Amino acid sequence: MKSLPLATSLLLLAVPLCAQDKAKAKADKIDFKTSVLPILEKNCFECHRTAYTAKDGKVVRPKKNVVFDSKDGMLQSWKGKLVIANKPDDSEMIKAVSLPADDDDRMPPKKKGDPLPKDKIEVLQKWIEQGADFGDWKAAPPVEGSKPAKPGDGKGKGGDGKKGGDQNSGGEAMAELQALGEALSPLGSEVLLQAAHGKARIEPFADGSALLRVSFPGHEDEVADTDVDALLPLREHVVSLDLGRTRVSDSCCAVIAKMPKLARLDLRETTVGDAGVQQLAACRELRSLNLFATKIGDAGMAALRTLPKLQHVYVWQTGVGAEAVVALRTALPDLQVSFAIDLPDPSADGGQGRKRRGKK
Ligand code: HEC
Repeated sequence: MKSLPLATSLLLLAVPLCAQDKAKAKADKIDFKTSVLPILEKNCFECHRTAYTAKDGKVVRPKKNVVFDSKDGMLQSWKGKLVIANKPDDSEMIKAVSLPADDDDRMPPKKKGDPLPKDKIEVLQKWIEQGADFGDWKAAPPVEGSKPAKPGDGKGKGGDGKKGGDQNSGGEAMAELQALGEALSPLGSEVLLQAAHGKARIEPFADGSALLRVSFPGHEDEVADTDVDALLPLREHVVSLDLGRTRVSDSCCAVIAKMPKLARLDLRETTVGDAGVQQLAACRELRSLNLFATKIGDAGMAALRTLPKLQHVYVWQTGVGAEAVVALRTALPDLQVSFAIDLPDPSADGGQGRKRRGKK
């Protein structure tokens, strides 16, 4: 499962365009902010926003945990299948809007009215076909008159209004990450091949960058701690590591802790817990950490306080308690913690049990 970006783009060129596409095919690259975002804003945001606290203090959650108002949400919610770069036909976002008008699963839902017009669907398709580039867009602004949802807070006191600062930081963030690789020389293909262990997909983080992005698509079930050990020769180069849904355990974190440039780490749905997470405190460049449905608890959360660059932590469906989240957010005020998206409304009666799950 090596990625072949060149082959992929050649393939796309070879796909014949439909007649009505021809005129548009000449048009330039689809720009996310000016062409795609308005469609999503108008037709999808209403029901698919990141959980937030409304004016009346109620926490409003995205339907089916499908999130369209942030880049992370679009890439990570719905098991990361909403938008699959270069593959519009595999992307659930496209599937959902392309269903027949009378199909119950069609988006926007029947009761909301007509399907998206064809030309709008084509814009979405084309954007994905071209690689689903978000430009510098990262997170949607907070909902008007309300504040981002804060865990354990159904009373509307949450949020600090700083979330809006994320809006334009995407491009800067990307440049910042690329700068991490400036002094590095690219690794040879033999080193990469060996490290891949026949399972990893190892790609340059960006064109011409010596930094690497590592994932294991299609091999999740076979990937264990030894496969992470194999990445050790790349330790200086790995900036993004996706181990989501693999069989890795706490012990892989000892190797990960030796990756000084690591900025994005995905450990979702693994058995990694506090002992592993505590070691990650060595990853000083870590910005995004996905611990969705892992074994992390309050002790692991506390260890994250020392990570100066941390911007986003995902701890849905974990044993982390609301108090630990609030404590971490107090220590790192700019940190976004995605915590409640999968939990019942903490202000509802049923919420109390879940909210306190982290407490023994
Ligand atoms: C009026 C509210 C509403 C709007 C607007 C809306 N959705 Fe949904 N969406 C839902 C609900 C409710 C579900 C869960 C449906 C279910 O459980 O079958 C859902 C589910 C989904 C799913 C998951 C797949 C599935 O079948 O469950 C996707 C993908 C999705 N929506 C995409 C979109 C897109 C893209 C738009 C905008 C074009 C959109 N939605 C607009 C309410 C909405």
